[in-house]
Amino acid sequence: MTVTIVGSQLGDEGKGALVDLWGGDADIVVRYQGGDNAGHTVVEDGEEYKLSLVPSGAVRDKVGVLGNGCVINPRTLFSEIDDLRERGLDPDVRLAKRAHVIMPYHRRLDNIEEEAKADSDLTVGTTGRGIGPTYEDKAGRRGIRVGDLLDPDVLRQRLEYVVPQKQALIEDVYGLEAGEECDVEALVEEYTEIGRRLREDDMAVNCGDFLAERREAGDNVMFEGAQGTLIDIDHGSYPYVTSSNPTAGGAATGTGVGPTVVGQGEVVGIVKSYLSRVGEGPMPTELKDDDRDEELADFIREKGGEFGTVTGRPRRIGWLDMPMLRHAARVSGFTGIAVNHLDVLAGLDEVKVGHAYELEGDERLTMPATTERWGECEPVLKEFDTWPEVDWAAVAEEGYDAIPDAAQDYLEYLSDELDVPIYAVGVGPGREQTVHIENPFDN
Ligand code: IMP
Repeated sequence: MTVTIVGSQLGDEGKGALVDLWGGDADIVVRYQGGDNAGHTVVEDGEEYKLSLVPSGAVRDKVGVLGNGCVINPRTLFSEIDDLRERGLDPDVRLAKRAHVIMPYHRRLDNIEEEAKADSDLTVGTTGRGIGPTYEDKAGRRGIRVGDLLDPDVLRQRLEYVVPQKQALIEDVYGLEAGEECDVEALVEEYTEIGRRLREDDMAVNCGDFLAERREAGDNVMFEGAQGTLIDIDHGSYPYVTSSNPTAGGAATGTGVGPTVVGQGEVVGIVKSYLSRVGEGPMPTELKDDDRDEELADFIREKGGEFGTVTGRPRRIGWLDMPMLRHAARVSGFTGIAVNHLDVLAGLDEVKVGHAYELEGDERLTMPATTERWGECEPVLKEFDTWPEVDWAAVAEEGYDAIPDAAQDYLEYLSDELDVPIYAVGVGPGREQTVHIENPFDN
């Protein structure tokens, strides 16, 4: 049995809480794309864990795998693992030998290119973690993979080819001074040592084989998507995207199982009850038209804790966007959804959703394919009855019927429009603050 978890909006939908909740029934939790640009907060026994690379299941004694579709910064990885160990956990993390490694020059180039783009108004607002440059090198067939770290000769050979190119880029194209990120000897030394640790701790695996063996032995697998559909490099708002595929197809290419394996399982879209966005790009339902909108956005931002986990940046806020969700449900083939942060909208004077877009006089139910056209869309808003603040902990205990009627109407509209059932409703940040409806592992 597999369950794939996909962010259906712009990332930050609160996927970690659901992965953590249902991950209890998984034996293995596998990330299939992205790197330490992700940020998830997991609350376990009152303890808060902020992770950016280690799969959230590792907090619950699951095997955590970083698939071949991921890009891995070993410095971040070992700092997170060491931190978890200091807090009394013993995370079991495996890395695909085919996954690419984020090198110090990738981070440097990420930041340099963002600055260069600013002059042409093309800034993406990346997390600065070197994600894009690492995937560029993967596609350019000049990347360093986890498997290369295990063999010092191969590592040296690859670095001796690629580092002078990076140095020339930094110095000759951007006119800057290259630093220690381009010191081949220092890189060989540091990354050989990392390879030694990976070998010693038996962390590097052939991901496809590892998962096939574990599935044959009867293990349940959860595929944990990072980021969200609208920042998918193929299906998102290009160029304001990350460089990987957070949508469900990525779970196959990014781990080495077939698409039929993913498709025979459940694919659950995680939806936040409103919209938030870190970084640039259009957002038709953004709350920014007047002072009242801005006040509302500030309120939701504070109440929902809408500040980047990785960067601390305040997130932009908007109403739920249905054309976006229809697109997400189709691209990933959602079999169900979980709706988070319903409590954040409680007690507001108004609750709206962007039901459709208006573009050149036409009403559209899905998104245009280009970001420029998307930016021209005006939301067609639908107003809902508001619901009061209630004791959400009690609601989580009592179940779906205890959710205020107006909020149930909101959820049912969502489920009807996307034609999928709702498996869970998040009414607070902790795992216990979730209304359980169905566990996808039981289906
Ligand atoms: P990158 O992934 O650092 O290259 O950033 C590319 C875009 O994706 C930027 O707009 C980031 O803000 C956004 N992004 C990357 N990771 C996340 C995430 O985990 N949540 C939300 N946005 C993200």
